[in-house]
Amino acid sequence: MGSPSSSRSSSPISEGSVIGTPSTERSVLFGDAPDSFDDAHEEFVLVTGGLGFIGSHTSLELLKSGHNVIIIDNLSNAFESVLERVVHLAKVYHELQGSVCPTLKFCKLDYRDSEAVSKLLDEFDVRRAHAFSRQSRITGAIHFAAYKAVSESIQIPLKYYRNNVSGLIDFVALLGDYGIKNFIFSSSATVYGSLADRGVPLKEEDCVHHEGVVSHVDGSTRAVKPGCVGITNPYGRTKWMCEAILADLAASDSEWSITALRYFNPIGCDPSGLLGEDPRQIPTNLLPVIVKVMTGEYRQLSVFGSDWDTPDGTAIRDFIHVSDLARGHVAALRSIHQAKSTANFNTFNLGTGTGHSVREVVTAMEAVSEKPIAQALVDRRPGDVGFCVAGVDRSRQELAWKTEKSLEDACRDLYNFLQRGETDVSQVGSSV
Ligand code: UD1
Repeated sequence: MGSPSSSRSSSPISEGSVIGTPSTERSVLFGDAPDSFDDAHEEFVLVTGGLGFIGSHTSLELLKSGHNVIIIDNLSNAFESVLERVVHLAKVYHELQGSVCPTLKFCKLDYRDSEAVSKLLDEFDVRRAHAFSRQSRITGAIHFAAYKAVSESIQIPLKYYRNNVSGLIDFVALLGDYGIKNFIFSSSATVYGSLADRGVPLKEEDCVHHEGVVSHVDGSTRAVKPGCVGITNPYGRTKWMCEAILADLAASDSEWSITALRYFNPIGCDPSGLLGEDPRQIPTNLLPVIVKVMTGEYRQLSVFGSDWDTPDGTAIRDFIHVSDLARGHVAALRSIHQAKSTANFNTFNLGTGTGHSVREVVTAMEAVSEKPIAQALVDRRPGDVGFCVAGVDRSRQELAWKTEKSLEDACRDLYNFLQRGETDVSQVGSSV
């Protein structure tokens, strides 16, 4: 979610320009009215912010893995035409598999609109005679809807605390009222703050919310204390605060099963070239900026810092293909549904475990596009760290999930998205 924006036909820079997702204003596939739901026995997964970059890829992977999905999105930082593309890709996938495509429902609403969300949840409420607690056909919620622009969070912190933190509190309280207590939270490696800069992969136990002792597979143990170190901006603090709130909620009520997924640097897009990162806001992350340079909207990439303590002097990040990241959510949901963990609040890093420098990313993008990317070396960006890479042991072992795609795959898929962005899905056959 982001600041509301009217039309994509306005100035590309001031409104945050788009790469090419068609600006369908209304979906021809789905209505907004929650009272139109009639498939009374199906189970669903609720996805807030499900038309955004990570949300849309995750919704697609959920559909591919057989889950019915309800998306809530207020379209503040996404386009409704993405919905049509997700449906198209899911249908093509299931046609090829010879399987039945699950249902996708879309509600254009703000996840903070408790009245509207209640009305929606009523449709999925399972009323059992003499039952003490409510049950729902919604078997889990994945919460992406949040503001995420670091610089804006410094300028307008209350906007971030109101939406990301207050919004989350009201939302989970409402879900709890309806007995929906399987919850996956979109967190970020930003919760590690300056700990990232030690130059070694980050372990989940480096940031915990309750005091405890962590056991390792080799039999060793480590005492851990709650807290955060060196988070440099309000956006990052909202992620940490939300995790802490969710950890307290889980500790207070054993019926909750909550997983916080700490994303490293998601890049790339679905290989079809029909889904991608197409924000309404002005991009600040590396790959979206590179895309702007490739499309000619920006003159050059400013490389923030070439004096980091890294082999080529540019900063190192753990760039994870968004489709791998999306599958990580499916794995986390499976783990919750199968009650695999004894703890009811868990954190997992979603990263590759391998770092690449900013320069390596630029070189990889130049290789797939066969065009040079204009760049200038400038000062470090305030608040940046030189190194941030995921430790992946816990997610591999406990989620039985690992990344499959490389930096080159991500760059190739992104380039494909740039080429195919304006494609009308009705013209695309089952080749995607
Ligand atoms: C940023 C956020 C982080 C958030 C994450 C989400 C900051 C300080 N951190 O992480 O809180 O969770 O995005 O994806 O913004 N770079 C350039 N030129 C650019 C843009 C980026 O050189 O125009 C460099 C950055 O300095 C950094 C690397 O590319 O070294 C990655 O930057 P970015 O994509 O913004 O991600 P993070 O800073 O890692």
